[in-house]
Amino acid sequence: MHTVLIISPGYPAEMPFFVRGLASTGVRVIGVGDQPVDSLPEMAREHLAAHWHVPSFADEDGIVAAVRERAAGVRVAQVESLWEPTMVLAARLREALGVPGLTVAQTIPFRDKEEMKRVLDGAGIRTPGHRRATTAAEVRAAAEAIGYPIIVKPIAGAGSAHTHRVDEAAQLDAVLPDLAGVPEVSVEEFVDGEEFTFDTICANGEVLYENICWYRPRPLVARSLEWISPITLALRDPLADHLAGGRAMGYAVIDALGFRDGFTHMEWYRKADGEVVFGEIGARPAGARTVDVMNYSCDTDLYTRWAEAVVLGRFTQPVTRRYNSASVCKRAQGQGRITAIEGLGPLLGDFDEWVTAVDLLPLGAPRRDWRQTLLSDGWVMVRHPELASCIDIADRFASDLRIYAG
Ligand SMILES: Nc1ncnc2c1ncn2[C@@H]1O[C@H](COP(=O)(O)OP(=O)(O)OP(=O)(O)O)[C@@H](O)[C@H]1O
Ligand SMILES: [Mg+2]
Repeated sequence: MHTVLIISPGYPAEMPFFVRGLASTGVRVIGVGDQPVDSLPEMAREHLAAHWHVPSFADEDGIVAAVRERAAGVRVAQVESLWEPTMVLAARLREALGVPGLTVAQTIPFRDKEEMKRVLDGAGIRTPGHRRATTAAEVRAAAEAIGYPIIVKPIAGAGSAHTHRVDEAAQLDAVLPDLAGVPEVSVEEFVDGEEFTFDTICANGEVLYENICWYRPRPLVARSLEWISPITLALRDPLADHLAGGRAMGYAVIDALGFRDGFTHMEWYRKADGEVVFGEIGARPAGARTVDVMNYSCDTDLYTRWAEAVVLGRFTQPVTRRYNSASVCKRAQGQGRITAIEGLGPLLGDFDEWVTAVDLLPLGAPRRDWRQTLLSDGWVMVRHPELASCIDIADRFASDLRIYAG
């Protein structure tokens, strides 16, 4: 039987949906992860034929050896990972088991932000000016060479952690201590503009599904100011004129990196003068429940469509975009436990028809760390066929829904 290994089947929260999607295509799904089988979410457990528990993702050599041994009696046909920290592990397992899919060498440009831009520069794609740096002196030299303002960020970062905008040399002193624990950074030209995604599901190198999300505001701003309710909005019309350059860049990037099967998640910038600039790309879906935002825009299950793409090489049903669809992430005011949620009733009264999901921390629950998780203290998803209405509704949830902690 066609057997697929899926890494970390229970975490992050989206993974059980991918497990279910895989199982629905008729393959046998085996999990490989650091969660003991008993602590896997029920949906993951239900659709796994087996789960190979490994002590820690930090010990990749150990995992490769253990999986190689366990796989001796099982013909593994595919290894899948949809979570950034385990992308290289998945590639190592593919190489060890001799199965197709991204190799380690093909995965590195998706992981190392300098290597990524080096390859894309070679393909003529407009990346921000950039340099790799491992010491404070190298960061200063790179900044001088590129010119302020700059961005300094980890070479393999995620979630905007340790990512800083620096406007002048004097400001570097304040920023460098935060990077002390980061072995290597990317120093980049600061690109001012709107920020979008380009997301795809590919099979055999062809794009079966594509999506563009608009971040409101830019992630770095959303991650710097606690009062903001970040909005990610999947646009119903990715063919709109102002998106054409980013979309074309998305196709060129996938081509340049030789990506063939699975999800991709690219971020790109559009400057006020219309120039588009590459941001980054992952060989995986966007996190923070953005796949659900995309699902609600098309009334489809992209977890299953992805599984069909990687197993069957095609979708079993067409995907049609019907809505603009958005998530609004909420951060409580105050510290400690959630004490009050205000405004939800009237908002649902006004927009019930357009609200697709509400998942807020309950009263009494401890607040989450908004710097660690974009989902923060909860989220609401909304949609509307008209872009202006979708923006209005999302903005109303951003401003009028208030969560308090104390
Ligand atoms: N060169 C740049 N110019 C302007 N803004 C930038 C630049 N590089 C990064 N940023 C800002 O910082 C954010 C985080 O950077 P980037 O996407 O490279 O890192 P990340 O931590 O992998 O992000 P993610 O949150 O998608 O995991 C970007 O979304 C953008 O807002
Ligand atoms: Mg990013």
